[in-house]
Amino acid sequence: MNETPHATTTTAATPSGPTTTSPAPSSSAPAAASSSSRGPLRLAVIVGSTRRGRFAPVPAEWFAGRAREHGGFEVDVVDLAEERLPDTLVDDERSIPEPVARLAPRLAAADAFVVVTPEYNHSFPAPLKTAIDWFYTEWQAKPVGFVSYGGVSGGLRSVEHLRGVFNEVYAIPTRDTVCFPNYQDAFGTDGQLLAPDRPNEAAKTMLDRLAWLGHALRNHRADHPFAS
Ligand SMILES: Cc1cc2nc3c(=O)[nH]c(=O)nc-3n(C[C@H](O)[C@H](O)[C@H](O)COP(=O)(O)O)c2cc1C
Repeated sequence: MNETPHATTTTAATPSGPTTTSPAPSSSAPAAASSSSRGPLRLAVIVGSTRRGRFAPVPAEWFAGRAREHGGFEVDVVDLAEERLPDTLVDDERSIPEPVARLAPRLAAADAFVVVTPEYNHSFPAPLKTAIDWFYTEWQAKPVGFVSYGGVSGGLRSVEHLRGVFNEVYAIPTRDTVCFPNYQDAFGTDGQLLAPDRPNEAAKTMLDRLAWLGHALRNHRADHPFAS
């Protein structure tokens, strides 16, 4: 774990072996087609904290700006505080709550995801887990990157937990992430980074990986739909 007071790329992924667990719940709503196999990738940036007075919009806006400047992505910011997904899951497609049905096509249309997450009690926020659990096919065979923030851990314990969860829904977490240890020291009161070079570099590395994986997986999904 990196505990230096700046963003950095991190290593984390561990290989996972074959699973014998039961199938995940079916997708909750009809999926929209993801983008065609040409053109920019669609990147959904998911804001994982819904807490009143949260810090989350600061790193989320910074990262969305980096993604737009990267040039390879159309960026859709999915703020879970605005989506207000209910925390009671249902498996009857006829009673899918309206916020879930509304979000499903945005996630289905994405070719890649980046989750912006804090760390709550050494893991990620409960509303983020609820959001992941509402969907299934929407995540499948797509890369997922992470921007984390927190105290000395920089939110990396959240990211480690998220890797296992996304693995279960057949998403592909990137090795490279962006993390902000002691995040209060990284951003000024205007929301701008005080020392942007290394975070910008880390963001570019992760975005390059997401672009590579995103194109490869989008092309392959077009020829061979992923069997859920
Ligand atoms: C319930 C709760 C648990 C927390 N646990 C941790 C923790 O385990 N590690 C950490 O680095 N920060 C922890 N924090 C501090 C958060 O890093 C800090 O509150 C941060 O602003 C949360 O992000 P947010 O404001 O976007 O929700 C916790 C905060 C809350 C509200």
